[in-house]
Amino acid sequence: MTGDGSGFAGGPVAGSGEFTGLAAVVTGGASGIGLATATLLAERGARVACLDLNAQHVPEPLLGLAADVTDDASVRAAIAAAHETFGGLDVLVNNAAVGAVGTIESDTDEQWHQVLDVNVVGIVRVTRAALPHLRASAHAAIVNIGSIAAWLGLPQRALYSASKGAVQALTLAMAADYVTAGIRVNCVNPGTADTPWVRRLLDAADDPAAELAALRARQPTGRLTTPREVAAAVAYLASPLSGSTTGSVLAVDGGMHGLRLPTQPGRA
Ligand SMILES: NC(=O)c1ccc[n+]([C@@H]2O[C@H](COP(=O)([O-])OP(=O)(O)OC[C@H]3O[C@@H](n4cnc5c(N)ncnc54)[C@H](O)[C@@H]3O)[C@@H](O)[C@H]2O)c1
Repeated sequence: MTGDGSGFAGGPVAGSGEFTGLAAVVTGGASGIGLATATLLAERGARVACLDLNAQHVPEPLLGLAADVTDDASVRAAIAAAHETFGGLDVLVNNAAVGAVGTIESDTDEQWHQVLDVNVVGIVRVTRAALPHLRASAHAAIVNIGSIAAWLGLPQRALYSASKGAVQALTLAMAADYVTAGIRVNCVNPGTADTPWVRRLLDAADDPAAELAALRARQPTGRLTTPREVAAAVAYLASPLSGSTTGSVLAVDGGMHGLRLPTQPGRA
């Protein structure tokens, strides 16, 4: 029971949007899913900083902060700048990541270290820097961005899939470590989303139109996921309204992970 009768630990959040009065950092917030998430959180009342290699492209009212998640000093400086600007930090979205196409035979040790450094250790660095501020928040939430690749065996995605499997497992471990500190940790696993990342992959394909058709067809909804749909899931998990949700993994993949459709119309 909460003393104010609102039903929400920490009491109600003043203002029109559920994030009013809260501050958020979104890594990789200059593009795609990160930018859509930062925009949605801002629309719902949050002050939002986008921590990115390309922070100069972040549109107002979002705050662009240049940082590389593989560089601990730049991460600490960016988190400190966000905290100083906003006077607190309540929500962290660990979204920055890079892709990798190949098998365990084609990818070098150097590639493994590089991709895991961004996709996994990057989350550790940013979260470690943010934790003192999150501990001080009454509405602390972390959302990590995983991938359908953590659940399904996809060809030519050994390194990327391993990194996203690690993100999913790390989410659960972090949720256990910080639940008593009042910090919730959840994960969103998108399917194929229509972002600059996927557009780059399509541009590099021999037949981009056929590749796009194949990507659409493998999701039961018959289309790519939109960045805004992933953002809505992140906002749900990050919201003070979701105070009892921690250690969960939410699929936003057009049914790709959970559904099996009949191969012939009308046949079960
Ligand atoms: N697009 C998809 O289909 C899809 C599917 C599943 C999961 N995801 C995940 O969603 C997240 C966002 O993907 P997206 O498609 O929007 O990608 P994107 O390439 O459009 O954006 C990624 C952003 O991360 C930034 N970034 C990369 N490395 C960084 C670093 N070292 N430090 C700071 N910033 C860095 C980039 O500058 C870029 O702005 C990633 O975690 C990705 O794995 C994407």
